[in-house]
Amino acid sequence: MHAVVWHEIGDIRLEEVSEPQIKRPTDAIVRLTSSAICGTDLHFIRGTVSDMVEGTILGHEGVGVVEKVGSNVRNFKEGDRVVIPSTIACGYCSYCRAGYYTQCDNANPNGKDAGTAYYGGPKDSGPFNGLQCEKALIPFASVGMVKVPDEVNDSKAIMLSDIFPTGYFGADMARIKPGHTVAIFGCGPVGQFAIASAKLMDAGRIFAIDAIDSRLEMAKNQGAEVIDFAEEDPVQTLRELTGEIGPDCIIDAVGVDASTSEKESRGKEGEKFKKEVEEIAPKANPHNSNWHPGNAPSQALEWAIKAIAKAGTLSIIGVYPPTMQYFPIGQAMNKNLRINGGNCNHRKYIPILLEKAKSGEIDPEKILTNEVNLASAIDAYKSFDKREEGWIKVMLTPG
Ligand SMILES: NC(=O)c1ccc[n+]([C@@H]2O[C@H](COP(=O)([O-])OP(=O)(O)OC[C@H]3O[C@@H](n4cnc5c(N)ncnc54)[C@H](O)[C@@H]3O)[C@@H](O)[C@H]2O)c1
Ligand SMILES: [Zn+2]
Ligand SMILES: [Zn+2]
Repeated sequence: MHAVVWHEIGDIRLEEVSEPQIKRPTDAIVRLTSSAICGTDLHFIRGTVSDMVEGTILGHEGVGVVEKVGSNVRNFKEGDRVVIPSTIACGYCSYCRAGYYTQCDNANPNGKDAGTAYYGGPKDSGPFNGLQCEKALIPFASVGMVKVPDEVNDSKAIMLSDIFPTGYFGADMARIKPGHTVAIFGCGPVGQFAIASAKLMDAGRIFAIDAIDSRLEMAKNQGAEVIDFAEEDPVQTLRELTGEIGPDCIIDAVGVDASTSEKESRGKEGEKFKKEVEEIAPKANPHNSNWHPGNAPSQALEWAIKAIAKAGTLSIIGVYPPTMQYFPIGQAMNKNLRINGGNCNHRKYIPILLEKAKSGEIDPEKILTNEVNLASAIDAYKSFDKREEGWIKVMLTPG
C-alpha cells in the first residue's frame, strides 16, 4: 500500500509499504478513506520535535471503514465507518476513566511516564505507524475508534480526528465562560477550531492573531477580531482594544514553530530567539523554501503572557518538545495566572463533537480548504509547510 514515510529531518517520501496485520485481540484494521496533514507533522520534518524513527508512517488523522477486528473488540464489526482519535489510549486505566486519555498508563510501549501515545510520532510516543496511508492498525480499538453517523461525511469527520477536539480542548482548558474576552494566537487549522469552540462556549469577544492573510480572513469570517502581527504589535493592540486590561483567556495554537515580526527578529530579542532555535532544532535540514523551523520558538507564549489580563487563564495546545525550556515564568507568576496545557484527550471530546456536527450546530467542513489524493501528498505537505495562501487544512484521500 502507499504511505507517507518519514526518513529524516527534511526528508519524507511517498512509498510502497506492507499492509498492517492484527497482532493482538484488542487490535483492529481500518481501511482509510481520508487522512489529513497537521501542523504537528511539520514539527517532525522541520526538526523542532525530534527523535523520529526512520521508516515511521506519518499522520494521526483518519476516517475509514473497519476491515477486521480482534476477538476482544466487541463493539465494532467489519464495514463500520469510524473516526480514529489521534492519541492512543487503553480505555481502562484510571487516567482513561477520568478522561485523561493522553496520560494513559498502558498505551505507550515506553512505559507509563513516557508521555502521550499517538500515531505517526517520535520514539517516545510509541512509535506507532501513522494514518497517511491506505490501511492502519488500530490498537485498543474498542476505544480507539468512534462510529460516524451517516449524516457526517468524510470532510466533516476528518476534522474530528484531531483538530476540532484539540481546539475544543483548548477552549475548555482556557475556562471560557459566557461573555469572556478570548484571544487565540495562531490561525492555522487548530486555531480556527479554537475560535469555533470559543463561539460554542459563548465567548463575548474573540481576538485572533496571525500574519497570513487567508488565515486571518477565515478567522474574521468566523466573527473574530483579527490582528496581523507583521503589521502591528499584538500585545499593544490587544491591550488597546480591551481598555488596557487584556483578554481573560488566551489560547496558544502556535507551538514551537512560532515566528516573530521583522522588528522583533532584530536586536537583542532576535539574538535570544536565534539561540532558542539552535538549541531546539540543531539538526534542521531545510530545502529551498521548505522545512524551516520557526524563527522564535517562545514568541507566542511571550506575547500571550504580556497581553493577558491579570488573573487570566492561559491554555497551551501548540506543541512544544519536552526539551523546551523558554517560558516567562516570572511574569506569569506575578500576574496570578492560571496555566493549563497538554495533548488533547481526543477520545473524551469526539462523541460530543460528532453530535454537534450531526445536528448541524457547527459545520466542521468550513475549515477544510484542500482535498488532495494521497499520491500527491508530498507536494501538499510542501504547500502547507510554506503556509501558501489558501492552504489551511489539507485532507488526503487514498486510492
Ligand atoms: N495539543 C494537541 O493535542 C495538538 C493537536 C493538534 C495540533 N497541535 C499543535 O497545534 C499547533 C497548531 O497546529 P496547526 O495545524 O494549526 O499548525 P499551523 O502550523 O498550520 O498553524 C500555526 C499558525 O501559527 C501562526 N503563527 C506563527 N507564529 C505566530 C505568532 N508568534 N503569533 C501568532 N501566530 C503565529 C502561523 O502563521 C500559522 O498560521 C501546532 O503546534 C500543532 O503541533 C496540538
Ligand atoms: Zn495533529
Ligand atoms: Zn489508559
